[in-house]
Amino acid sequence: MSPSSSAPAESLPLGEWYRSAARDLPWRRADFRRDFGAWGTLVSEFMLQQTPVNRVIPHLDAWLARWPTPRALAAASPADVVQQWANLGYPRRALWLHRAAKEITERHAGVVPRDVEALLQLSGIGDYTARAVAVFAYGDRHPVVDTNTRRVIARAVLGQAQPGPPSRHDLERMDALLPDSDHESAVFNAAAMELGATVCVARAPRCEICPLLETCAWVAAGRPETEDTRRRQATFEGSDRQARGAVLRTLRNAAPDSVPLVGVLPDWPDPLQRDRAIDSLIGDGLAEADGELLSLPR
Ligand code: ADE
Repeated sequence: MSPSSSAPAESLPLGEWYRSAARDLPWRRADFRRDFGAWGTLVSEFMLQQTPVNRVIPHLDAWLARWPTPRALAAASPADVVQQWANLGYPRRALWLHRAAKEITERHAGVVPRDVEALLQLSGIGDYTARAVAVFAYGDRHPVVDTNTRRVIARAVLGQAQPGPPSRHDLERMDALLPDSDHESAVFNAAAMELGATVCVARAPRCEICPLLETCAWVAAGRPETEDTRRRQATFEGSDRQARGAVLRTLRNAAPDSVPLVGVLPDWPDPLQRDRAIDSLIGDGLAEADGELLSLPR
């Protein structure tokens, strides 16, 4: 969403703020957006689902240069897809994106659908990503709600320090706040996410520079503490997720060759955990066993 157009009145005065304070991210630049299209939006939103912006940016260009259309990605091998996903984390997203590209090619003649219901039918796409594509790529008016938006609404509207568990009310609440015009509602969606990412952050919010300071229900209530219901991110060090990442890195480094199973992390401190990681990667379709050899999926 470009931060550079005019600002009518809004339920919360976020449009003005966004136009002056939004980070300069590639997909917000007019020259970048020219070729970005709905496919670029879909790929970037997939990557942004669980990976911070600064880690996504270097991978996004390379991905779109290699597979500039859903049809191009649909024709790729799973091994190439997992390889290109590199260290973005939660690699099942790579397989889901690959599957979504095939579905778009087969069901929608290679054109990313605009309709939210059709988007929701694609692999790996939930409420957030479906509406992000419809809004940021096609300019339609829908509520786009990510974890940052939920926190902004919890504080500015509900007067709570932290949002409750995700629910259908999140979409309804955001919908009620959207400006009438399609364009301004798209700006508003981007602005709420941006405010939550940069100012109204989970710990140590920067209320002194917040554009909603005067009207914020949480500030008016004296910034009361509210129980934090967010799931804690499990510690990565020593986790099964770390072991899976290490196995996958071994396979990516060896590709296109296979690796003898006995040569996969032979010195891993917990061999049972390593074997569990291998089994779960095979179960997820991220690795393939052939006799005593392991490789990326073929
Ligand atoms: N603009 C559109 N979607 C975004 C996202 N997920 N993060 C940051 N900026 C965005």
